[in-house]
Amino acid sequence: MEGTIVNLPEVIRLKKKYKAYLYVDEAHSIGALGPNGKGVADLFKTGTKDIDILMGTFTKSFAAFGGYISASKEIINHLRVSSHSPCYAQSMSPPVMQQIASTLSVIQGHDGTAEGKMKIQRLRQNAVYMRENLQKLGFHVYGHPECPIVPVKVSLICLPWVSRMMQAAGVSIVVVGSPAVAFFETRIRFCLSASHSRQQIDKVIDILDQIGHVMCAKKNKPDSFAEYRAKNMLRHRKGNYIEMADFIFG
Ligand SMILES: Cc1ncc(COP(=O)(O)O)c(C=O)c1O
Repeated sequence: MEGTIVNLPEVIRLKKKYKAYLYVDEAHSIGALGPNGKGVADLFKTGTKDIDILMGTFTKSFAAFGGYISASKEIINHLRVSSHSPCYAQSMSPPVMQQIASTLSVIQGHDGTAEGKMKIQRLRQNAVYMRENLQKLGFHVYGHPECPIVPVKVSLICLPWVSRMMQAAGVSIVVVGSPAVAFFETRIRFCLSASHSRQQIDKVIDILDQIGHVMCAKKNKPDSFAEYRAKNMLRHRKGNYIEMADFIFG
């Protein structure tokens, strides 16, 4: 939600110091972070031997279902006998397993192409590009420079408007409010993909630039929405978005 990346070497240091167990959830990082797409352990080159439980999902980078847990034999045996799924859930279907195996093979380059590596590089470039450009325009962007999740702060009051305005301009966005985030920490949450082209990213940045200016979503432009409202009393709820869209794009 924050677009941050855990400081794994530091967490490992603390784990050793306090003799704790370390559980790492790579749901958002497997297939996305690190030079080989193996997640945060790959990004920080820590290896996985200090991680007691390493898990991830196949629903994001793998575009499939299910997930995985890797740990010592004792932990895995314990999960096998004590958790719900080995006894009561269906096993994964062959097409899903094939999707996961094929994706893994592309990520690892076992398919004989460099497509996986290129996609991971492109994802990183897209994240850096979008974050940098939004920051240059004055937006408050949360998180790590290389994280493919790019959250952009928009005030609680403007959030529904920004969402509708973006839609009116042809871009569907995901907005996040309380309780997923703190009450006044509302935001847009962009999740970048390696398949996003520069033109697509530029288009989103361009539209957000125009809307953000009017909506006071930028740190350095506090006045324009107030000015607009003073000039145009919004008469009725229906049609406001269109009116606003006309004002910005018309
Ligand atoms: C941190 C984290 N872990 C695990 C999951 C589980 O993902 P899923 O239920 O899609 O397998 C999610 C889902 O968004 C997540 O954000």
